[in-house]
Amino acid sequence: MQLNPEILQKLITILGSSYVFIDEETRNHYGHDETEDYIFPPNVVVKPANAREISEILKISNEYKIPTTPIGARTGLSGGSLSIYEGIGLSLERLNKILDIDEKNLQVIVEPAVITQVLREAVAEKGLFYPPDPSSQGSCWIGGNVAENAGGARAVKYGVTKDYVLNLEVVLPNGEIIWTGANTLKNSTGYNFTQLMVGSEGTLGIITKIVLKLIPKVTHNVLMLVPFYKANQACEAVSAIFRAGIIPSALEFMERDAIDWTLKYNENINIKVKDSIEAHLLIEVDGNYPEILMLEAEKILSVVEQFEIDEVLFADTEDEKTALWKMRRSVAEAVKANSIYKEEDTVVPRYELPKLLSGIKEIGNKYGFKSVCYGHAGDGNLHVNIIKGEMTDDNWQTQVPLGIREIFELTVSLKGTLSGEHGIGYVQKNFMDIAFSKTHLELMSRIKSVFDFNNILNPGKIFPDDI
Ligand code: LAC
Ligand code: ZN
Repeated sequence: MQLNPEILQKLITILGSSYVFIDEETRNHYGHDETEDYIFPPNVVVKPANAREISEILKISNEYKIPTTPIGARTGLSGGSLSIYEGIGLSLERLNKILDIDEKNLQVIVEPAVITQVLREAVAEKGLFYPPDPSSQGSCWIGGNVAENAGGARAVKYGVTKDYVLNLEVVLPNGEIIWTGANTLKNSTGYNFTQLMVGSEGTLGIITKIVLKLIPKVTHNVLMLVPFYKANQACEAVSAIFRAGIIPSALEFMERDAIDWTLKYNENINIKVKDSIEAHLLIEVDGNYPEILMLEAEKILSVVEQFEIDEVLFADTEDEKTALWKMRRSVAEAVKANSIYKEEDTVVPRYELPKLLSGIKEIGNKYGFKSVCYGHAGDGNLHVNIIKGEMTDDNWQTQVPLGIREIFELTVSLKGTLSGEHGIGYVQKNFMDIAFSKTHLELMSRIKSVFDFNNILNPGKIFPDDI
């Protein structure tokens, strides 16, 4: 679509000409995120300064029926910020302040464009802890984390983003501004709009302020890397650890290729892996009492030793811990650097993990693709990177979607679902029928129209094309 000069003029009147961009370079820059190699540039990029300006923009979007897509740090993996119907790309980047760290109530009020790690470090300086730690925490923003209900490695003990969101200031698609709830730890007052907004992927409103719960800082941790000769046994060990009475603060799975490719990509990480090792578990326990952590680590050892494992590596120093975490967090980037790929974000009840992994491999054999699996095993959340490798373009386009559909069918048959933490966005929307009945999807779609009657806000996301 073309934006007519009248609309452009109105946007400039609201924002000033320095915050309205129509040049190709800017539009392309804001037209992609980390989702494969998709590029969907908007017709115009706008950079409002506050909720009031966003409200004015959305009123124009409604008046002229212009698709309007909120854009965060563009680190997303499901295409949530892609302007697939062009229109207005609304970057939140100027709303980038930590407004208040409330040490008395253990809360923080923050704008959406604060980098998650910056937020975590700012509260840590006050002795407080914001646990959610997506792998992209060094570049992703807290607003995007809320929009996608992001997780991360610590979710297994501390929960995901939703578990920390108390209240949100939101600009609704019609331009009205509301607070969704209250700054309280408990709230049984009416429908829970706060949690409806969390994970709504920018389709119901634009989040402009976020009130988050914090907890006291945790002072100690023990980190170990356990090499397994059989990948399926690594998956079996996961639920065994919990059943032995331990809740680790991280329990991550990495298949062999995930480690090899990451080590190739990070030359400064020095870990030797024997040829016969198929997978690793990276396991952390944390708390404030080192003696208890040692007992927990011993208990975990006694569980994993029941499987075929090689020598366990304990990270002795902070540098070793940082290197192991860097290795784990760079898997997605390393896979991306190695091959064209598609990334799925399957999640099942934890005990079903071995069935999920072996099923994915069988489906790969059937459709002729290789996959590299890794992720938050403690949550039953397995990232599946499907690798193009030597596959022909034709097979990549025709066979892989059939295989992905089967992977999701398997996931749902194991009582799991399509995405644990990356969202549905653009890339998974046409698989939603696997997880939801028509009745369920229509109910969701009616909720969308209550908030966004003209379907101007982030259209073309979450809902399958035929809804
Ligand atoms: C990770 C991202 C891809 O776990 O979710 O590394
Ligand atoms: Zn992840």
